[in-house]
Amino acid sequence: MTDTKLRTSRMHLLFVLPLVLEVQSISMIHNFTYDCTCHLELKIANCTSSNFTHVPTTLPPFTEQLDLSLNHLSAIHPQAFHSVRRLRVLLLNDNMIAMLADGVFSLLEGLLRLDLSRNRISFLGEGFSRGLGSLRDLSLAENRLASLDSSCFVHFDALQRLNLSHNAIETIKTRAFGSMSTLRQLQLNSNNLTVLKNGIFSMLRNLEVVNLHHNQIHYLDVGVLSPLTSLALLDLTNNNLSTIQFKTFLSLNTYSTHIMLQGNPWDCDCDLQRVFQKLCNVKRLFLDDYDNLTCVNLDESDRNYTMKEEFCTAEMVTVLVITMTVVITVVAAIVMAEKKRKKKNKEKHWTEVGELACASQD
Ligand SMILES: *[C@@H]1O[C@H](CO)[C@@H](O)[C@H](O)[C@H]1NC(C)=O
Ligand SMILES: *[C@@H]1O[C@H](CO)[C@@H](O)[C@H](O)[C@H]1NC(C)=O
Ligand SMILES: *[C@@H]1O[C@H](CO)[C@@H](O)[C@H](O)[C@H]1NC(C)=O
Ligand SMILES: *[C@@H]1O[C@H](CO)[C@@H](O)[C@H](O)[C@H]1NC(C)=O
Ligand SMILES: *[C@@H]1O[C@H](CO)[C@@H](O)[C@H](O)[C@H]1NC(C)=O
Ligand SMILES: *[C@@H]1O[C@H](CO)[C@@H](O)[C@H](O)[C@H]1NC(C)=O
Ligand SMILES: *[C@@H]1O[C@H](CO)[C@@H](O)[C@H](O)[C@H]1NC(C)=O
Ligand SMILES: *[C@@H]1O[C@H](CO)[C@@H](O)[C@H](O)[C@H]1NC(C)=O
Repeated sequence: MTDTKLRTSRMHLLFVLPLVLEVQSISMIHNFTYDCTCHLELKIANCTSSNFTHVPTTLPPFTEQLDLSLNHLSAIHPQAFHSVRRLRVLLLNDNMIAMLADGVFSLLEGLLRLDLSRNRISFLGEGFSRGLGSLRDLSLAENRLASLDSSCFVHFDALQRLNLSHNAIETIKTRAFGSMSTLRQLQLNSNNLTVLKNGIFSMLRNLEVVNLHHNQIHYLDVGVLSPLTSLALLDLTNNNLSTIQFKTFLSLNTYSTHIMLQGNPWDCDCDLQRVFQKLCNVKRLFLDDYDNLTCVNLDESDRNYTMKEEFCTAEMVTVLVITMTVVITVVAAIVMAEKKRKKKNKEKHWTEVGELACASQD
């Protein structure tokens, strides 16, 4: 039993060795019959820009990096990658992929990086993440995703970077990012989010960067940021925020977090200014673009206000002036009334005396 095994492995070795030597002696780069350039030494199969409509079936089994970017792939079939199970990098960006078979990547247990950007993906099922327990880096940017279900990322145990920018995401289900406690960077910019609901970020305790610029967010639930205990950068620029609540940001229980908020239609009043002043005084929070927060409600053709300006003092002065005017008027009125009364009293006194005099005379 042991002997046979030994002999087989020796034979295998004898068979492989001359091949490797031969390949190396001829050329480092070997041209296969299909339009992929395969670099044996580096274990790369480069099939970029080759008009492929299907994943090629005859790839060398040792391939660790497969570049299928810039082709015409429209669907990925269930067995597409069964001959290249050692893949570590898979580039499928810039195709026309609309359909991913259920569990299509499930054999690629060593995959570290997957690029699916610039395709036509509109749906991710539970099978999408199956088997991808080692994946660190995933891009789904520039696709057609409209919602993230609670099951689409469920098997990612090691994911660190997730790029979902430039989709049409409107809804994120509560548990969508639920399994990704290893996630460090999340790009959700240029989507169609309007509210950030409590629970969508729960479990993301290692998240350092969350990019939400260019959405239409007008409301954040008060507790939505509280699970993000490692957050270093929160980019909310170019959204539809007109007001914020102090507690929402105070609940960020981090060591230090930079928050970007410009490009929102701030509805400035004294209350909101007070909220911002309080936020500026929280040592661990840094409002990097505070100077640039513009007040749309106070926009005038000759002068536009920013949040940090003293429109509130002006308001207070106005209030003070009005109050003073009122007080002065009232005081003046009282004084006048008093004078009038005294005068009247004097006259009355005279008549009373006169009457008395008359009476005594009678
Ligand atoms: C591979 O083959 C193509 C033609 O099919 C040729 O133009 C190209 O130069 C070859 N590349 C190498 C590295 O031999
Ligand atoms: C594949 O080749 C193209 C140029 O022909 C290059 O830009 C790209 O980086 C290569 N891909 C990999 C994974 O090496
Ligand atoms: C891909 O197809 C286009 C036209 O359809 C052609 O011009 C181009 O040469 C093809 N590229 C390859 C690598 O075959
Ligand atoms: C995410 O994808 C977009 C669009 O493809 C790209 O411009 C951006 O650089 C990516 N972000 C990161 C952090 O990789
Ligand atoms: C998403 O937002 C963009 C603008 O940011 C808009 O053009 C598009 O119609 C919106 N899509 C949906 C489905 O709401
Ligand atoms: C911005 O939010 C307001 C509600 O605060 C809403 O009425 C308006 O339609 C939103 N605008 C956009 C462009 O989403
Ligand atoms: C504020 O706006 C100015 C001019 O638009 C720009 O140069 C500056 O970089 C902005 N500051 C921040 C912190 O983004
Ligand atoms: C104030 O803002 C409005 C629009 O927001 C703009 O049309 C106007 O030119 C701005 N005025 C100044 C002085 O910047």
